Order: sequence, then structure tokens, then C-alpha cells
Amino acid sequence: MEKWPSWFKASVSKTDIWENCIEGSNPSFSGRVNMIKEILAVYPGSFDPPTNGHLDIVSRASCLFPKMIVAITENMSKKHIFSLDKRIDLFRKITKNLDNVKVMSFSGLLVNYLEKINSFVLIRGLRALSDFEYEFQMALMNRKLNKKIETIFLMTDQDYMFISSNMIKEIAILGGNIADFVPDCVEKELKKYVVGLSQETYAK
Ligand code: PNS
Repeated sequence: MEKWPSWFKASVSKTDIWENCIEGSNPSFSGRVNMIKEILAVYPGSFDPPTNGHLDIVSRASCLFPKMIVAITENMSKKHIFSLDKRIDLFRKITKNLDNVKVMSFSGLLVNYLEKINSFVLIRGLRALSDFEYEFQMALMNRKLNKKIETIFLMTDQDYMFISSNMIKEIAILGGNIADFVPDCVEKELKKYVVGLSQETYAK
């Protein structure tokens, strides 16, 4: 069992929010503002590796919500180059200045994890139209699995629109410069990974 700091336990019961706000009569604006003050938002992903685009989303979301968890997991449809521990470590490093952000891992269904930590708000970043279908499907599926879950999309900053973890990995492996796309600690880790790869190739 992971140990939670006391401020995480203070998260309001989602049943209360659901009954008061969504299923009840129209909430007043101030009701909504108060509700936002209590929300624990979750930014899930595989983050292999975390990029400046991810950092931009989590930074902006951390200004909107009082508490946030970056929830890192294995994406079954992707082949990761960094271990879960390494991805957590990198994300912790790059968010160390965001006091209300905690980086955790989860396994299994995301909706079950949300239930466990008493959250019902998911944050996802949207870069371009190409993201939309995947994100739309995932948001609808999560809502189908648990109708209380809301996914909130933040549009990427235009500086990061073209950045994706996959592309960063490819550029790094092929010797390109990735300094503008990832935080320094991620760049360093990717360089180490590439050196390891070429040593493996020569050893064969
Ligand atoms: O950064 P990614 O790889 O696009 O994130 C996708 C992720 C990890 C959020 C998604 O694959 C996920 O939620 N995985 C956990 C298992 C799950 O709940 N699958 C059903 C999603 S509808």
C-alpha cells in the first residue's frame, strides 16, 4: 500500500460532489468554484519519456486544480524503453517545483485506480486532430466503465504541438538533437540509453 500525505486524504468524497453538483439541481457558479477547490485531478500516461509538452500540461493543470497526481503505468500497446521506475524518477525530477503534484505508478484499469484514490477527474493533453480519435475513444470508454469520470483536455501550447515521446526516441536514437524538446534530465537519460544501445550493437 502506498503511503499518502495527509493533504491527499483530505480529498472530498466524489459521491458528495456527484449528488450536489451533477445529479442535484443546477449548481451555482460559486458552488462549482468551491468544488474545484477540492478536486484531486489525475494526469495519466506512459510518459516514455516525459517531454516538455507533458511538463507544460502538468504545470498548467496544477494551476487549475489544488492537488494532482501524475499516474504512470505501462501502456500495453507500446514498447517502452525506460522502466516504470525510471519514468517515475524522471517525472518526479521535472515536477519537483510543483508543490501540489505527486508522481505515482498504477497498474490495471485506470478507472479502478481513480476509484481507489477517490478521484474522478482525468487530465489529458491534446496536440492536434490526430490525437482526437484516440483520446475521444479513451475518454468515452473510461466514462462507460465509470460514469462519474470526467476527462478534461488541455490544448497543448503551440510550441509543443509537434512533440511526441515516440518521435523524441527516434530522433535520439538516430543521433539528432533533442535538447529543445525534453527537460535536461530526460535528455541525459536518453543519451545514456543510446550509448547503451550502440554498445549492445557493437558487442554482437
Ligand atoms: O501516454 P499514453 O500511453 O497515451 O497513456 C495511455 C494510458 C496509460 C493513460 C492508457 O493506456 C491507460 O489508461 N492504461 C491503463 C489501462 C486502462 O485503463 N485501459 C483502458 C483505457 S480506456
